[in-house]
Amino acid sequence: MKQLQVGLEERAYPILIKEGLLSEIGQELKLRPIAKRYIIIADDNVAELFGGHVVESLRNADIPVDLLTFPHGEASKNMATVEKLARSLAQLGVDRQDALIALGGGVTGDITGFLAAIYMRGISFVQVPTSLLAQVDSSVGGKTGVDIPEGKNLVGCFYQPKCVFIDTAVLKDLPREELLNGLAEVVKYGVIYDSDFFHFLVANQKSILDLEPTVVEAVVAHCCTIKARVVEADEREADLRRILNYGHTLGHAVEAASNFTIAHGKAISIGMAAVNTISVKKSLLGADKAQRIKDVLQGFGLPTDIPMDLDRGQMKEFLKTDKKSVNGKPFFVLPIQIGKVIITDDVDDVMIEEAFG
Ligand SMILES: NC(=O)c1ccc[n+]([C@@H]2O[C@H](COP(=O)([O-])OP(=O)(O)OC[C@H]3O[C@@H](n4cnc5c(N)ncnc54)[C@H](O)[C@@H]3O)[C@@H](O)[C@H]2O)c1
Repeated sequence: MKQLQVGLEERAYPILIKEGLLSEIGQELKLRPIAKRYIIIADDNVAELFGGHVVESLRNADIPVDLLTFPHGEASKNMATVEKLARSLAQLGVDRQDALIALGGGVTGDITGFLAAIYMRGISFVQVPTSLLAQVDSSVGGKTGVDIPEGKNLVGCFYQPKCVFIDTAVLKDLPREELLNGLAEVVKYGVIYDSDFFHFLVANQKSILDLEPTVVEAVVAHCCTIKARVVEADEREADLRRILNYGHTLGHAVEAASNFTIAHGKAISIGMAAVNTISVKKSLLGADKAQRIKDVLQGFGLPTDIPMDLDRGQMKEFLKTDKKSVNGKPFFVLPIQIGKVIITDDVDDVMIEEAFG
């Protein structure tokens, strides 16, 4: 078992990573009790695949447990789902001695974390991420929230979990497209923070795609370590944490202009390749390094070019209205070498147009 720590003083918490950990969660919670009773929240897919294992694991450890579900997919990440779940918690008599378990992908983690933050003005929660994206990114760092028709993640708060349990074995059930969503974030960490990790990814590409257990465990642990270090330095995204948005500003514009037919991970991959061309144009990054990043993304089966049929004008508009833009000016995370980036809004329209290709 690998054990990491997110060092946030009184909000510090451990991340445990192990193949097969799902069936040991009961024992782990017995060793590090967080609550008297636990309510697992999972989407219908994940509840069917793994809900039973986790319930059984807690029952075997004599811990009272219930399971609540909601329909899978981003469309559920809204206030209506939160209200429905909150009412179910109240009907079950859940109080502040109890805790929630977010069992699932980023959608479940974001909903459950937000619900935990506001139910009875805050109860504890635990993350048990099951998608690669959730294991390497969303389950660590305490960003929670839901979407409203006006925009994604517009309602939410920072609320840290008490513990993160990661069972890498569950990735075997993850659809290919969902694996790609996570892999784009994995490559991101190498480029923004750690060139050794980037080279590890290059050397182990096939084993990662084949989900070789020791390699996958190493990848997940490494990503969580980087995320933890970034969050420790800047919990509320005042500065350093913004590096995690590498490729995301342009990626979100690609995603939106495609009317969400291009999946998140693919859009982020395209976004990373596109901002690299800005870095090269600004003489911040060598063209050979930009090519190496492109090669890794493509090696994982991720796209790197903006499809010709996407409306460039529309993408430009999306960039300006991105919720992280200030006065209509987006910021960009630009690599200056593999493992190091800068954050800047000093990118003119011509460069953006060139990055669109
Ligand atoms: N809080 C954060 O810091 C943060 C960071 C990045 C993304 N996010 C959010 O995360 C969400 C995306 O997360 P996601 O990609 O995990 O989506 P998701 O939660 O919708 O999961 C993707 C799909 O995979 C299924 N699934 C999950 N684990 C599985 C498994 N092991 N086997 C088979 N199927 C499985 C789910 O049922 C779902 O259908 C977005 O809403 C995004 O805004 C949050």
